[in-house]
Amino acid sequence: MKEVRKFALIFTLWSILLAPVAGLMAAGQEPIKIRFSHVVSENTPKGQGALLFKKLAEERLAGRVEVEVFPNSIRFTDEQVLLGLLFDDVQMAAPSLAKFRSFSDSIQVFDLPFLFNDLEQVHRFQSSETGRNLLDSMIPRGIKGLSYWDNGMRVISANRSIRTPADLAGLLLRIEPSAVIAAQYKSLGANTFALPFNRVSDGLRLGLVDGQENSWSNIQSQRFHEFQDYLVETNHSFQGYMVVTSVKFWDGLPADIREALQQILAEVSVEVNRIAVEKQRSSREAVITAMGPDRIVSLSDEERAVWRQAMQPIWKEFEHQIGVEVVNAAAEE
Ligand code: SIN
Repeated sequence: MKEVRKFALIFTLWSILLAPVAGLMAAGQEPIKIRFSHVVSENTPKGQGALLFKKLAEERLAGRVEVEVFPNSIRFTDEQVLLGLLFDDVQMAAPSLAKFRSFSDSIQVFDLPFLFNDLEQVHRFQSSETGRNLLDSMIPRGIKGLSYWDNGMRVISANRSIRTPADLAGLLLRIEPSAVIAAQYKSLGANTFALPFNRVSDGLRLGLVDGQENSWSNIQSQRFHEFQDYLVETNHSFQGYMVVTSVKFWDGLPADIREALQQILAEVSVEVNRIAVEKQRSSREAVITAMGPDRIVSLSDEERAVWRQAMQPIWKEFEHQIGVEVVNAAAEE
């Protein structure tokens, strides 16, 4: 009987003193799970970036962080993913800069046509004070920007030949859900349809839309060119990404993990931008070969100036919404 009481006493003491500690230790050992959702294929700058982020995070924070990457919209479309971040269904994403309209007016600056002449100007703006402030512009709405990633400049494909802005009149074009991009085409007499990215290929194949605008790597990896007869190399706007998380998730991370992830992202961003340049070249070559060079319209400097003049009034239309100082800061870089 004495033995039983002794056992009961030891068990009670263990429950009171040690069990919570053991529980805490177990909980402490659980790695933090980061689900990273995006819409493009793995063989793109963003697809490669997400995989490299996973590799470096799991190597450097082994046992403390696990990253699961969901490419190709298998988990969320861009239209859903920002809400997914806010509800903690997913912890990281990298939507195109044209997808943040409901969360920040200023980020629309990246959609303005012919504002950025090349990637160097984009990078100078992104690393300026104004550009860095845009990463924080969604904090009041619970979203935190962590880094910018490149894809490339946008070109336009369609089922008829386009050389001048006037050639767009009457076409129905798939665009990203951006008010700036919609206004840009409306001003030229074209209509727009904001299909989610994972529906664009089918939309073009079924003739639901006549054309679309995108970066070379997206056109090639989604095979848009297989359903389009012509392409015009306007390079009229920048298609890039903001890597985002939720303020709640980010602020809840232990400080050393947050710093390590931020450092990893800085390294991954350099690599993504290097891949973007390489993909812009190789995807362009592959698409031109597949479509045939006579289907690709390259613009002379004079022709490009005509496009620029036709689209530039959009800057005025949106400068107050975006912020005159933001537009000027980008234009002056
Ligand atoms: C992306 O590059 O993430 C998608 C762009 C698009 O919706 O066209």
